[in-house]
Amino acid sequence: LQEVAYPKDLCGRHVLITAGPTQEKIDPVRYITNHSTGKMGYETAIHCARRGAQVTLVAGPTNLPDPLFVETIHVTSAAEMAEAVKTRFKQSDIVIMPAAVADYRPINPADEKIKKDKNTDEACIRLERTEDILSYLGQHKRADQFICGFSMETENMLENSRAKLKKKNADMIVANNLRTEGAGFGTDTNVVTLITATECRELELMSKDEVARAIVDAIIQK
Ligand code: CTP
Ligand code: CA
Repeated sequence: LQEVAYPKDLCGRHVLITAGPTQEKIDPVRYITNHSTGKMGYETAIHCARRGAQVTLVAGPTNLPDPLFVETIHVTSAAEMAEAVKTRFKQSDIVIMPAAVADYRPINPADEKIKKDKNTDEACIRLERTEDILSYLGQHKRADQFICGFSMETENMLENSRAKLKKKNADMIVANNLRTEGAGFGTDTNVVTLITATECRELELMSKDEVARAIVDAIIQK
């Protein structure tokens, strides 16, 4: 019955969504990751499906169940996420990217478990940059495609997020400040600001489902 409440205004549209963290291998027992739970991405996928979209969700490791009526592709690393997104980009009309993609990965992940060094109490893991998926899409998008990135900041949120919008050639950035009450990792709510080239709209505290609705509304009204 709940489905009736949703307009089917995404019918015929392909929406590609990223969600969750990525894990970057250090050795067979260790990895680098972050606190993302995937909730924002999963809620966005569920919301878009309810509005009639054909949804593909590319998800890093989370504890969330695959949403109904959504094609869910599970990946582990930033490189796998990049590959999965790039191969599905052409057929997508809208891309929404809440995933917290690792910015760095170990240069040489070890095949065997790394043992403690008896000669020193220090350890060093050399890292290299991962590919910036959003920037790649921004560089390769067609005029009929809409790309929405996210931005999580702890300071200078607006300034940093505006810079990301421009640098990555995104159509919209959903900015949130980790320090704001009700925003950030693992919460069921978020406080976001929708930033486009012409507008900067601060939304009140709302559930992640409501945030998804506001994002889609903004994209459709573009
Ligand atoms: N992103 C991406 N690929 C990466 C890193 C980030 O696609 N390798 C995307 C995220 O999914 C998000 C947007 O870029 O939609 C912004 O991510 P964020 O971490 O806030 O920005 P960065 O550009 O990585 O800058 P920094 O972490 O230095 O603030
Ligand atoms: Ca980052």
